[in-house]
Amino acid sequence: MPKTIATAPGKIILFGEHAVVYGQPAIAAPVSQVRATAVIQNSPTPGIRLIAPDLGSNILLSDANANDAVAAVVVQLQSAAQLQELPDLTITVSSQIPIASGLGSGAAITAAVIRALATHLGLSHLLSDEWVSDQTYEIEKIHHGTPSGIDNTVVAYERPVYFVRQQPRNRIEPFTVAQPLRLLVADTGIRSNTKDVVGDVRRQWQQDTATFDTIFAECGRIANTARKAIEKGNVIHIGQLMTENHILLQKMTVSEPTLDELVAVALAAGALGAKLSGAGRGGNMIALVDEEREPSVYDALLSVKAKNVLTTIIHPTN
Ligand code: MEV
Repeated sequence: MPKTIATAPGKIILFGEHAVVYGQPAIAAPVSQVRATAVIQNSPTPGIRLIAPDLGSNILLSDANANDAVAAVVVQLQSAAQLQELPDLTITVSSQIPIASGLGSGAAITAAVIRALATHLGLSHLLSDEWVSDQTYEIEKIHHGTPSGIDNTVVAYERPVYFVRQQPRNRIEPFTVAQPLRLLVADTGIRSNTKDVVGDVRRQWQQDTATFDTIFAECGRIANTARKAIEKGNVIHIGQLMTENHILLQKMTVSEPTLDELVAVALAAGALGAKLSGAGRGGNMIALVDEEREPSVYDALLSVKAKNVLTTIIHPTN
């Protein structure tokens, strides 16, 4: 039986999470070595079967409840492509991206299913990165309430992006990376729900709008300065800006003790900068390192509370 396979990467937010929801610029990059995969096959039995071996789940679409992430993707794609009927299929999803860890696992699974399903159904004419991103955004709205759109953008385009949420279209700008950026991504092992954290920041913003607007604007200034530093290849300055961004995320109350400890340990071991990445209250911390210091920072992170550390490099573009 022929198979259609598609994958999508994880992501990290280098600058500007949370502030991006309020219209400030942010910078994100794919983490290509951890991926979500979707495999589609025609099925000899009736219906659309959704299989997630990692979660031990195997159900028919017709039996799926309203919260089933993959079922929602199939329904979304059928409506976007205006298909009256779908053939009998099995859709198998798996992911190397830890769930609820700030690495965009939900967006990556959605983007992989959309790409695989659209290809399998012969809808290749629809399949631009922009379309995959837009479809993924529709699903992000179900799970995350008020997503900025940065996660779906970076996993669909799979390249570093400078992103500004705005109407009627978001501003998505690729930019030059002058020097390789070597990052260690350290998992606290603490899972957190993006929707809850984003909702909590919103409550605080409503209670003290002036303070939070000032924090968000400062994050935006850092993201803009960081973009220039990335374009010039000023790695030391990029590191300093990451650590400044972390302090602002602490002020938003989205850091927590393990993230703070990993940041402190990374800096003490010679990282050029470090911050939480994603929604916070758990998930991952990222540290910018040079080649020489990478092993000592890596060891230091694992010797404290990191459950896992991976290295990712953002390669220079021309
Ligand atoms: C989550 O990866 C990034 C947040 O800024 C939420 C969003 O942008 O939708 C926390």
